[in-house]
Amino acid sequence: VAVKAGAYDEELIATANTIASKGRGILAMDESNGTCGKRLDSIGVENTEDNRRAYRELLVTTPGLGEYISGAIMFEETLYQSSKAGKPFVDCLKDQGIVPGIKVDKGLVPMANSNGESWCQGLDGLAERCAEYYKQGARFAKWRSVVNITAGPTDKALQDCAYGLARYAAIAQDNGLVPIVEPEILLDGEHDIDTTLEVASRTWAQTFKYLADQDVLFEGILLKPSMVTPGADSGTKCSPETVAEYTLKMLNRRVPPAVPGIMFLSGGQSELESTLNLNAMNQTPNPWHVSFSYARALQNTVLKTWQGDEANVDAAQTALIGRAKANSMAQLGQYTG
Ligand code: 13P
Repeated sequence: VAVKAGAYDEELIATANTIASKGRGILAMDESNGTCGKRLDSIGVENTEDNRRAYRELLVTTPGLGEYISGAIMFEETLYQSSKAGKPFVDCLKDQGIVPGIKVDKGLVPMANSNGESWCQGLDGLAERCAEYYKQGARFAKWRSVVNITAGPTDKALQDCAYGLARYAAIAQDNGLVPIVEPEILLDGEHDIDTTLEVASRTWAQTFKYLADQDVLFEGILLKPSMVTPGADSGTKCSPETVAEYTLKMLNRRVPPAVPGIMFLSGGQSELESTLNLNAMNQTPNPWHVSFSYARALQNTVLKTWQGDEANVDAAQTALIGRAKANSMAQLGQYTG
């Protein structure tokens, strides 16, 4: 049965393609207040609303950021904040050609009858929230589910993860937001790279089955996968070439070319590792724009440089441009260090 075209279809496709534009990727700065607190704590800064605001102001007002960054994902609090001078963050981003985005899930909770697996909340009231976020200037969304290899993963957890992502994606599109589809496969564990490949293949097979069942417009979504690597506690590291080979094998088998962009998460890899792995994936042409949506791999040095001190803002912004440019080069397959 043919599905009626959605009111936002053309806009969704245009937004997705703007975000997936050559040499650019996403700055993930959507840490929840709790997670942002942990990051601030690591530099001895108190987790207050104004300190979170000051830190995010540093990020969104970085001169020249739009050359390398096409989209920025924010937490709800940040979407409604402004710079000290009173300029809404949404406008700071738009003036640089950066599309404002919003995390719309309500976080993870333990899954009953499982061995440490979780499920992602947030479908209740999601349509209304998406409509509000659109009015505030957001044009894309993120929903992060988690797949835990050390806990199985069980079929019921994978099915729930995929179903939730697909329901969210349909609702986001219905309200004009391009959904980033993120079933994060945690790096934690002692497993080898072949196990990750197997779990990632199962995860994306389920995800695309439910995306299709929910009539999601594939041309108007973006994916946020984990790279296929050995478990972080396996004692093994693979070369960027091997990570790229495994990851692209999985994506080629599972992801239709109608999807415009693959925006990887960094998942706890170092800044350099994340850049080198992305660069390796872009050594040959791909059916999609293969790029980044990093939080930690873009922000670690920025935070350390800032230290909560106004006097360090310029240096911290220079650090952000440094990582953003490196990953931009990696998107083009031209990173040389
Ligand atoms: P990391 O790049 O730090 O893994 O974060 C990306 C993200 O937004 C996870 O949802």
